[in-house]
Amino acid sequence: MSPVSDSTNRVIPGPQETEEKIYHPSDGLFTDAHVPDFDAYLAIYKKSTEEPEEFWADVAQEFYWKKPPSGQMLQYNFDVNKGNIYIKFMEGAKTNICYNVLDRNVHERNLGEKVAYYWEGNSPTHHQTITYIQLLRSVCRCANALKLLGVKKGDRVAIYLPMIPELVYTMLACARIGAVHSIVFAGFSSESLCERIMDAQCNILVTADGVYRGDKLINLKKIASEALERCKESMDLCVQKCVVVRHHAFRTNSDASNKLQTPWDESCDIWWDDLMEGVSDECEPEWMDSEDPLFILYTSGSTGKPKGVVHTVTGYMLYTSLTFKYVFDYHHDDVYWCTADIGWITGHSYITYGPLANSATSVLFEGVPVYPHVGRLWEIIEKYGVSKFYTAPTAIRLLMKYGREPLQRFDLSSLRVLGTVGEPINPEAWLWYYDVVGQQRCPVIDTFWQTETGGHVLTPLPAATPLKPGSATCPFFGVQPAILNEHGEELEGEAEGYLVFRKPWPGIMRGVYGNQERFESTYFRKFPGFYVTGDGCRRDKDGYYWITGRIDDMLNVSGHLLSTAEVEAALTEHPSVAEAAVVSRPHTVKGECLYCFVTLKDHKEFNRTLMEELKRKVREKIGPIATPDFIQNAPGLPKTRSGKIMRRVLRQIARNEKDLGDLSTLADPKVVEVLFSQRCEAAA
Ligand code: WT7
Repeated sequence: MSPVSDSTNRVIPGPQETEEKIYHPSDGLFTDAHVPDFDAYLAIYKKSTEEPEEFWADVAQEFYWKKPPSGQMLQYNFDVNKGNIYIKFMEGAKTNICYNVLDRNVHERNLGEKVAYYWEGNSPTHHQTITYIQLLRSVCRCANALKLLGVKKGDRVAIYLPMIPELVYTMLACARIGAVHSIVFAGFSSESLCERIMDAQCNILVTADGVYRGDKLINLKKIASEALERCKESMDLCVQKCVVVRHHAFRTNSDASNKLQTPWDESCDIWWDDLMEGVSDECEPEWMDSEDPLFILYTSGSTGKPKGVVHTVTGYMLYTSLTFKYVFDYHHDDVYWCTADIGWITGHSYITYGPLANSATSVLFEGVPVYPHVGRLWEIIEKYGVSKFYTAPTAIRLLMKYGREPLQRFDLSSLRVLGTVGEPINPEAWLWYYDVVGQQRCPVIDTFWQTETGGHVLTPLPAATPLKPGSATCPFFGVQPAILNEHGEELEGEAEGYLVFRKPWPGIMRGVYGNQERFESTYFRKFPGFYVTGDGCRRDKDGYYWITGRIDDMLNVSGHLLSTAEVEAALTEHPSVAEAAVVSRPHTVKGECLYCFVTLKDHKEFNRTLMEELKRKVREKIGPIATPDFIQNAPGLPKTRSGKIMRRVLRQIARNEKDLGDLSTLADPKVVEVLFSQRCEAAA
């Protein structure tokens, strides 16, 4: 390994310089690695792309099939000029993902007593160990209970839960009976929840009475009830029953539960415990076709309306399982911890399905990194002896601010592999993760992927891939990236442009729920024949890929995608606002943050109260992650003569970039000067 200075405030080398510095995985750390070196990676990769039928048939052997795959492995069309876009993988085979990730571990591999999850609550006094057999029983009980409520194969179940074991039980119970889960991150607002429930026409909502995030109490049931109220107002109350988990934190603590004021509707609401009473803990799985839907997960779209990304059973199962095994170089004695929330794709793929398919032991963490102290994550790593750790650049940047001291109090020697996901990781954060957390022993695995890709698509492998800080390195097995220019021409060798994929891999999304047109226009229309990620990308002389960030009207706040359009829509709902334009601005911890320009209606005053109201509006409509950092009063916006807002100019104003280039297409160039002179220096 190359030596690295251990000062945390060193001068950051530019990407070109950093690119020259290559970190080779430690010798000796990976004597039994699944992929021992780069040549081995290249050989497996070659097989995966040149003989995909054989490659995936081998992977499929690891799973239980009610009806084994036969016939064509993959059928697809990526070219809008040749008809509808579709992807079918091992169609006709029958299996059940819940059976594969639970029953097989218990009954075939004899791992019933192995720990599936160490649940660690928000409060360090709350924790629970869940073995595979216990997990299987709880899931079956929940599956039977859902059936009692009338849930059948193909029905949609909305899940709005914090990171508690019941979240895992419910999602796997859905998978077991063939119901389609639609998990909504429990930090979303009632409006966001309502929109997602109606879009998927969910019959059932599963939520909790409340939750503590750090020391903040959240009345989850109240938000859920407001969401259902909203559905009713839209004359679209599809939800018939709302199942409510009584959170551990409120079971014994009457003080806390008094603060909750759980609203209750006798005709709809039912306590989880009451529903589960006397229900059997055995449940025959529903045998699903490979291409039956497994879940819907909403992700922001550039039009402002979220898209329900649909994943299906077999492709997703094989892909999350295989990526988990190789990308974390998983071995049976590992203790694995992904700090994401299951409400995002990272949690679906790499807390629930991927790890369980590999019989892994994981930490399931409900809390936040800095509660009750800034060393909480390190404390948990020591407590459970975590060997594989997966988190987001935003968390790393947050924890970097507290220096080394909080880490020095804990023993982190169990760590072997450090993963990151969510946004490009800046070299400074990469090096800190590598030096300070991994003590220069552990490779940093920068995994690039999306809700749509189902699993990792560009990623190093721990023992095999020489690392370059800030690069997601090379494609995973079966993945074929390409870089295109604006005209759709493919660029070879060193190049920068649009990141696309030329063929499906098993885990790719199958559609946008109820909206084939949007599926095609978002991902396939711009460059016929390719799946378009929406990210910019550079390939260096060694063939390594470097994600440069979004190239559509999306921004990435703390690893979560938001569209500028959805924030603008929230702002313009305020009665004083005539027009709004939102751009991203770099942020030291969140990566990017929201900078909003608002034009007020005549005679309306721009003041602190209005700013607070605007922030509240966005929080209510979308959720706290979308809270604007900057709001600037804009008497006018820079527009072309045809009335199109020039976001490039606004972005430069937000970032204080003085060289504005060609402004000749603007209808009124003077507006730029005014905006520049009044730009916000400090956050609102
Ligand atoms: C977008 C997808 C995949 C789980 C979390 C986010 C950005 C994600 C990386 C990475 C650079 C990354 C991209 C992507 N992104 N991982 N390692 N390096 N950028 O899922 O909400 O669907 O967001 O996150 O811009 O398109 P998501």
